Amino acid sequence: MRETQSEGESNNNNSNNGSWTQQPPQALLERLKDYGQEDAFALWDELSADERSFLVKDIESLDLPRIDRIIRCSLQSHSLPAAAIEPVPESSVSTVEERTLEERERWWKMGLKAISDGKLAVLLLSGGQGTRLGSSDPKGCFNIGLPSGKSLFQLQAERILCVQRLAAQSTNEGSAGSVQIHWYIMTSPFTDDATRRFFESHRFFGLEPDQVTFFQQGTIPCVSKDGRLIMETSYRVAKAPDGNGGVYSALKSSRLLEDMATRGIKYVDCYGVDNALVRVADPTFLGYFIDKGVASAAKVVRKAYPQEKVGVFVRRGKGGPLTVVEYSELDSSLASAINQQTGRLRFCWSNVCLHMFSLDFLNQVANGLEKDSIYHLAEKKIPSIHGHTMGLKLEQFIFDAFPYAPSTALFEVLREEEFAPVKNANGSNYDTPDSARLLVLRLHSRWVVAAGGFLTHSVPLYATGVEVSPLCSFAGENLEAICRGRTFHAPCEITF
Ligand code: UD1
Repeated sequence: MRETQSEGESNNNNSNNGSWTQQPPQALLERLKDYGQEDAFALWDELSADERSFLVKDIESLDLPRIDRIIRCSLQSHSLPAAAIEPVPESSVSTVEERTLEERERWWKMGLKAISDGKLAVLLLSGGQGTRLGSSDPKGCFNIGLPSGKSLFQLQAERILCVQRLAAQSTNEGSAGSVQIHWYIMTSPFTDDATRRFFESHRFFGLEPDQVTFFQQGTIPCVSKDGRLIMETSYRVAKAPDGNGGVYSALKSSRLLEDMATRGIKYVDCYGVDNALVRVADPTFLGYFIDKGVASAAKVVRKAYPQEKVGVFVRRGKGGPLTVVEYSELDSSLASAINQQTGRLRFCWSNVCLHMFSLDFLNQVANGLEKDSIYHLAEKKIPSIHGHTMGLKLEQFIFDAFPYAPSTALFEVLREEEFAPVKNANGSNYDTPDSARLLVLRLHSRWVVAAGGFLTHSVPLYATGVEVSPLCSFAGENLEAICRGRTFHAPCEITF
């Protein structure tokens, strides 16, 4: 396992020389005053010596000019009217209907070739706190109740193993083990330890430990509506991860873009942790990306209903750049607007948080995005000295990079094949572990039947099904030898 430490806010200066235990250090207090944040020391007199020491280090670890710039720019930009948005024309999307079998096969082969040449890395965004799911573990550790009991991390690791094998088989010399896909995993201070321990205790799910690199995204203070730092305790500033768009600055500060270049990586497949059907390192998508010669691409599904909690792809202004408007920022009348000609939602191309980028483009974005200093503001309950108070979390989103891309391609996939979100705890109406499990079982049951297998079941089929191990099949291929003429009693896992 390789490890990197990101620069910046984690670098504490130890200036505890004892001279400030009675009074806050003057220079630091003056710096805070410069930014109107001196209230951070408001409870100094009530703190113990250790707490004072902690508070000083906590404040010293903040890059105050940068944070001040981000807070000001983000609050200011939030108060301005958002630029008008236009739907993405259907012609800009590679739809499932228009794809021919020949194209699909060509892209699959092109993708496998690039993978066997070592040009693809996958990058998992796993720094989110998963509060909606109601679990304190990193989301990837979650077992959605499949017959195998596999966690989301394990499903993804085994899909990587499967693609490695397929890529190795596709080359003439290909022996198992000759192809390795490097897996970069972004954690945050809230998920890092537990994620590493989970991988170690599961022996990296059969991957080589040195093909996995963990790195941490940054955090940023939570603020009140007027931009003041919120104190989580009397001696600690409340902080939250800086959003999945924090990946760009984290890649840069951890020097991982250089690491990728050194390995000969040209393409990076970035995805969210919480989709039980995610096709990690999908050769077809990679082949499509290479074929189109674009700098960035995203998989999209058609939006299921107006209030679905998915971001939608839009154009900013007439003919403007392609980007995503997050569900939390889309006006509800626009969310439900209908295209009179097609009868479909006007803004119908949903983001499934699966993006492909060229390494060149990632380098460009890592250097450009930070300069904007405009973060999204999410009004959330923040743990504070006054209990949970409403405040603002500042976040960048991974798709904030799209407007910088010289070219972007959208690739439609079928939600029943590739999108099983795990967002809310069981008992909620949608996007739960239970709903994701059923989506997996239904898809895999169809694969098995298509490969000539039979299913029996003692509970209704709509509530059960079989699970195909990702070690056997990535997308339903190569199942005849295992399934033809055999009967499987659902629920069960089918493996070698
Ligand atoms: C995300 C997408 C949304 C999309 C939906 C599909 C973003 C910003 N939003 O929404 O457009 O329609 O998925 O399911 O991408 N994460 C981090 N660090 C953070 C915050 C999040 O790594 O600071 C990771 C999470 O661990 C997760 C992914 O980013 O893997 C998505 O984050 P989440 O906050 O769950 O986004 P959604 O609201 O579900």
